[in-house]
Amino acid sequence: LPDGLAATPPMGFNNWNATGCAINEQMIRDTADLFVSTGLKDAGYRYVNIDDCWAEPQRDPRTGRYVAHHERFPSGIKAIADYVHAKGLKLGIYTSAGTQTCAKTMPGSLDHEDLDAQTFADWGVDYLKYDNCNNQGRAALERYTRMRDALKKTGRPIVYSLCEWGENKPWEWGRDVGHLWRTTGDITDTWTSMVGILEQNAPLAPYAGPGHWNDPDMLEVGNGGMTGREYRSHFSLWATMSAPLLIGSDLRKATPETLEILGNRDVIAVDQDSLGVQGTVLRKDDGHWVFVKPLAGGDVALTLFNQTENAATIGATASEFGLPKRPSYVVRDLWAHRDFESAGTFNASVPAHGTVMYRIKAGGDWWRQPPLGEYGL
Ligand code: DGJ
Repeated sequence: LPDGLAATPPMGFNNWNATGCAINEQMIRDTADLFVSTGLKDAGYRYVNIDDCWAEPQRDPRTGRYVAHHERFPSGIKAIADYVHAKGLKLGIYTSAGTQTCAKTMPGSLDHEDLDAQTFADWGVDYLKYDNCNNQGRAALERYTRMRDALKKTGRPIVYSLCEWGENKPWEWGRDVGHLWRTTGDITDTWTSMVGILEQNAPLAPYAGPGHWNDPDMLEVGNGGMTGREYRSHFSLWATMSAPLLIGSDLRKATPETLEILGNRDVIAVDQDSLGVQGTVLRKDDGHWVFVKPLAGGDVALTLFNQTENAATIGATASEFGLPKRPSYVVRDLWAHRDFESAGTFNASVPAHGTVMYRIKAGGDWWRQPPLGEYGL
């Protein structure tokens, strides 16, 4: 949506990958506290988002409004929003464009869009993830547009996330409906799932831009199913694809390594770059990937991803992705946090399942001209 609300991909937290339905208000408060105390807020994380199962199974019989779940959210959503806002953060909530949510523990918003949007706005909600379950076979465009209009009517700025799983190609219509759209089914905390999603999301680069992002689902970093190196790849690739960076692990249990990955400001800066161009695949040979992501001010990020089981040298030359000729380039290694100079060949030895990210300073608007790899721009 071209309203300036998600000029860069949203950053924050969502509990689903860590807890499923087993959410409670204490976790939301603790996460907000930890955003501040660990420095993640300063690194750019803002939205603390509640997923499925936060409401009672029945609406209030008198008003028809949602009622917060008496055990999981005894204080009510408004109180949680106030708590999160007092920390300078924002609160997100969830429901489905259907008769019930996916977990079927609470009603969905289908045919209740105006009332529910107003309820969320009254509570001080800043972000809505709108799921696709129990949709009664009704057209996605109509269901998602209705909630867009309902949110707009409230007058409250609310980031609108279309959780449509890519079923009806939301990248083709989502730009005028929401700020981001899921492009795939649910991620799981495995290498195979992460790479599968990467393969589906990468070709959709031309559809992304400020206010309208591809959403390859929330992060699994810290949940334990991948190695530290694999989680670094996951985070690097999501940032390269201008994905929303929604932490999906329980920060109360985060190791120093998890916090170091999630808090990598050099990588975050690639995700949050103001140009808002999703990185494209310059080359993919036998599981050796080279991504190019143009950045504001003529910089460019080069992401060298080794999908294979063996270490490999991966790289590209300046001329291959249209960088203007310079006597030398200043390059920053975004995981080693180290600057070096290069004559124009950017290679790295990348371990199995690893990723090396470089930020190259070139200057100018060189990236407007060249065709960028097999998926184009
Ligand atoms: C399906 C979504 O894709 C998930 O991210 C999560 O929100 C669950 N539904 C909740 O039931």
